Amino acid sequence: MAEVRKRKVIVDCDPGHDDMCAILLAAKHMELLGITTVHGNQSLEKTTKNSLKIVELAGLTHVPVAKGMPQSLLGWTNYAPEIHGESGLDGVDLPEPTTPLHELHAVDFIIKTVMENDDVTIIATGPLTNVGLALIKEPKIASRISCISIMGGSTTYGNVTPVAEFNIVIDPEAADVVFRSGIPMKMFGLNVTRRAEATPQHIQRIRELGTPFARTVADLLGFYGGTLMRIFGTGGASMHDPCAVATFIDPTIFDMRPMHVAIELNGKLTRGMTVCDYRHERTTADQLAGDKAIHRGQKPNCEVAVGIDNEKFMDLLIQTIASF
Ligand code: RIB
Ligand code: CA
Repeated sequence: MAEVRKRKVIVDCDPGHDDMCAILLAAKHMELLGITTVHGNQSLEKTTKNSLKIVELAGLTHVPVAKGMPQSLLGWTNYAPEIHGESGLDGVDLPEPTTPLHELHAVDFIIKTVMENDDVTIIATGPLTNVGLALIKEPKIASRISCISIMGGSTTYGNVTPVAEFNIVIDPEAADVVFRSGIPMKMFGLNVTRRAEATPQHIQRIRELGTPFARTVADLLGFYGGTLMRIFGTGGASMHDPCAVATFIDPTIFDMRPMHVAIELNGKLTRGMTVCDYRHERTTADQLAGDKAIHRGQKPNCEVAVGIDNEKFMDLLIQTIASF
């Protein structure tokens, strides 16, 4: 049986409990060429330390971790201690990491890795500052990257403003560079990732795996889920980021639609919105109302998630955690 070549990926992230789960899926099911860290859920210092803690916890110290941008292209940060805690990975006191960082800046690591490897996929689960800057600094990488899959945006509501999602609105200019790059894109927005949920029952299943690693992951997700359930009344821990990875492992988990997606940069009320054009998808209501018009949208530049089988998704995540 021919060896199935694993997809070569870089995970650009801001750990973050859900970023941790994205890293675990990528490490187990793909060829994880590197982890690049960015400001986001917490300061760059903290998201970088958390990335090192995660690779040490999961036995992934062979995966290079390169430190990236401390703020957006325009100099903004917007940390989320109320969600992920003061450390950005609260819930378990993980040991201070001793693994050294890769010597390159994350932007240069992305450029070098893409120039030296064919068909690299970039999975971005934080603000797009590193990825946008890499495309600005070395435009040649755009034709070499096979796909950029992001957790970000939404076809409906936001979580920072009524229309803007955290990863996009912290650095809309960087997101604009990425979405206009012409690189094949997959977008997993809040409209779907809010339904990717590790419920208390799922977390108990993880705990019952019985390994020290699984118990630690259960404690981390228990903290994260607890804050979300307390603050937002969710049904558990929102598994936003691993959606951007799971699509490559089992595409049947998601329902995807081609759309043109653009980033609003100037709107007083709408800055950071992912403007998703699905006019070509006439709704049943339109048709039932006898709407015969052909609603031509703009040429799609992205595959956008519009549905998820959460039980299939959580089974994949739990099986993956069991394999560490
Ligand atoms: O809006 C959710 C996103 O913001 C997730 O990536 C989470 O980790 C935070 O980065
Ligand atoms: Ca994230």
